[in-house]
Amino acid sequence: MNFKKNKKSKKWLKNYFKDSYIRKAKRNINKFRSRSWFKLEEIEKKHKIFRNNITIIDLGSSPGGWSSFAASKIGKKGKIIACDILPMNPIQKVYFYQGNICNSIILNKILRILNKTKVQIIMSDMSPNISGIKEIDIPRIIHLNEIALKLCYSLLEYNGSFLIKTFQGKGLTKYYNKISSVFKTTKISKPNASRSQSCEIYIVAKKYKN
Ligand SMILES: C[S@@+](CC[C@H](N)C(=O)[O-])C[C@H]1O[C@@H](n2cnc3c(N)ncnc32)[C@H](O)[C@@H]1O
Repeated sequence: MNFKKNKKSKKWLKNYFKDSYIRKAKRNINKFRSRSWFKLEEIEKKHKIFRNNITIIDLGSSPGGWSSFAASKIGKKGKIIACDILPMNPIQKVYFYQGNICNSIILNKILRILNKTKVQIIMSDMSPNISGIKEIDIPRIIHLNEIALKLCYSLLEYNGSFLIKTFQGKGLTKYYNKISSVFKTTKISKPNASRSQSCEIYIVAKKYKN
């Protein structure tokens, strides 16, 4: 038996069960769905991106924490177009498409439902499968980040907002600068609900200029 590995996984399990966000999410799984719900709640408290009657694209939406939080903030007429490779249980006001956003079939489904209208927010919590090797994981997430930004170029309304999860490391400054050049304000956010040892951060960009 690998003692070191065993000790490490015990510590991981202990932290997992001690984690208050995970406990809260489990207590009301229908409402919160995931720890990510709490991250978005914190981001919204600070940056105020949601309002009534808007349309949102939620990329990497499963199991539904962000969609569920956003649905509670957009009033009766708001809607969310969500996409994930993994399945997601239904949420009111959310049109979910299962598939890879890099795939044109999924993209076309999103375009069809939008019917040439633009959206007010694009948000992406997409994560690649984490290998634990930053030289692999960072380029992978930056690739997903680039795809989300490209969607802004064609689908985001003037003055719209963009929220994206990314990883700190090589390539981030270049990506951040790209966002800054097309939005009036760009800020970095690290919610308390995001584990401090995780290199994930969120970029909140407002007032799309194009
Ligand atoms: C951290 S989870 C998202 C949690 C979710 N936002 C929530 O609030 O419950 C990241 C998700 O990104 C999805 N994902 C990764 N690459 C993707 C891609 N190319 N297209 C669509 N979804 C993707 C994964 O399947 C995974 O469910």
